[in-house]
Amino acid sequence: MTGGGPREHVTERKKIFPGDFQWGVATSAFQLEGSPHADWTNWDAILSDKPGITDHYSLYKDDLALLKNLGVNSYRFSIEWSRVQPHENAWDHEAVAHYQEIIDILRSYGIEPMVTLHHFTNPLWFTTKYPWHVDGSVDKFTAYAERLVAELTGVKYWLTFNEPYVILLGGYLEGCTPPGLRDAGKALAALKNIFTCHGRAYDIIHRRDPDAQVSVAHNMSVFAPWKKWNPFDRLLKKTANFFYNHSIINAFQTGVFVVKFPFSRAVEIEVPIKDKLDFFGVNYYTRIHLRFNPFRKMGVELRHLDLDGHGLTNIGWEVHPRGLEKVLRYASRLNLPLIITENGIATHDAQRKTDYMKRHVDVVERCLRSGIDVRGYYYWTLIDNYEWLQGLDAQFGLYRVDFKTLKRIPTPAASYYSYLIASRSQL
Ligand code: FCB
Repeated sequence: MTGGGPREHVTERKKIFPGDFQWGVATSAFQLEGSPHADWTNWDAILSDKPGITDHYSLYKDDLALLKNLGVNSYRFSIEWSRVQPHENAWDHEAVAHYQEIIDILRSYGIEPMVTLHHFTNPLWFTTKYPWHVDGSVDKFTAYAERLVAELTGVKYWLTFNEPYVILLGGYLEGCTPPGLRDAGKALAALKNIFTCHGRAYDIIHRRDPDAQVSVAHNMSVFAPWKKWNPFDRLLKKTANFFYNHSIINAFQTGVFVVKFPFSRAVEIEVPIKDKLDFFGVNYYTRIHLRFNPFRKMGVELRHLDLDGHGLTNIGWEVHPRGLEKVLRYASRLNLPLIITENGIATHDAQRKTDYMKRHVDVVERCLRSGIDVRGYYYWTLIDNYEWLQGLDAQFGLYRVDFKTLKRIPTPAASYYSYLIASRSQL
């Protein structure tokens, strides 16, 4: 065994992961590359100190070689829209060729690409003129998706949007990410437009390739009342679960997004996404405790408690592996294959990183045994990178990055992941 991770006795147990299980790593373009024309570049001062972040845009060949060494058979990455369309009506052929080269290299390594069309960032011109709550946003995104999908070859797995709800929470309710609004009405308009774009992108991709596999990557969390005995905390838990985990599943099943607050009538919004899903991408990290606090925004206070005793992560999240089973079981009501499109831990402690990975992969194994149709697991992430509001110190990477020299340094979790893949897979 390499990597100093938890001991395993896999030779004695029946292997349960199918031979074609997708073992992968997930990244996003902006977090590795930055982009001079993205809305986030203006938003966060850290980025003016570290414009290239990890300089993956130049060092991509070296980074893709790391994937080959890891032994993954799939890689999730995103296209940075603001590189492809730095200005309205512009189209940067070199940027598209760059992403095509990544796909070709992956294929030459026998690694299946999974491409995300939109991972949080927008071109600055888009956010300035057509932010998501404005109707013109739909045509702009659709035109980008149409042309990009026509030009890229060799992609079967697509994610249209990464974490649509997180875009809305940050950009439209908290106001901590672009476009920085706090406006529930605009949030709902943005939600409708983003869902409409998903539906259209789904059709665009399928028109070109009927066998394509298309989804979103939805962030799922386990919610719990801060105090079990407190009926308000329990009600918050129920409401949060309804919105965060249930409403999107329901919208994909019925084409209706339901807004329902306690003690009020439900509002239904039609969204054109019914059945526009070939698998369901689940990003899972943590559990969140909720407390009713009338002095907080919307009466809610969020906390991470360390109830399982695994310690909180570098960015304060609880490690709660059992929650992965809960959310997968919940998502399985879609009757579609499930893929864990992100799961990972922010820590500089190698033992904790391998532990986290092992515990979550154990949960996936348990889910497979109990008949849940999980088809893939993507660890977040390959190398340390820019972690949005948390900056550069989160350290989710299998490889550490020295941000002065940009050197990639393997953590023991890298060799542990290789070991895990080799030992759990049926060959
Ligand atoms: C997810 C995001 C991803 C990364 C991880 C830690 O919510 O999709 O970009 O920030 O969290």
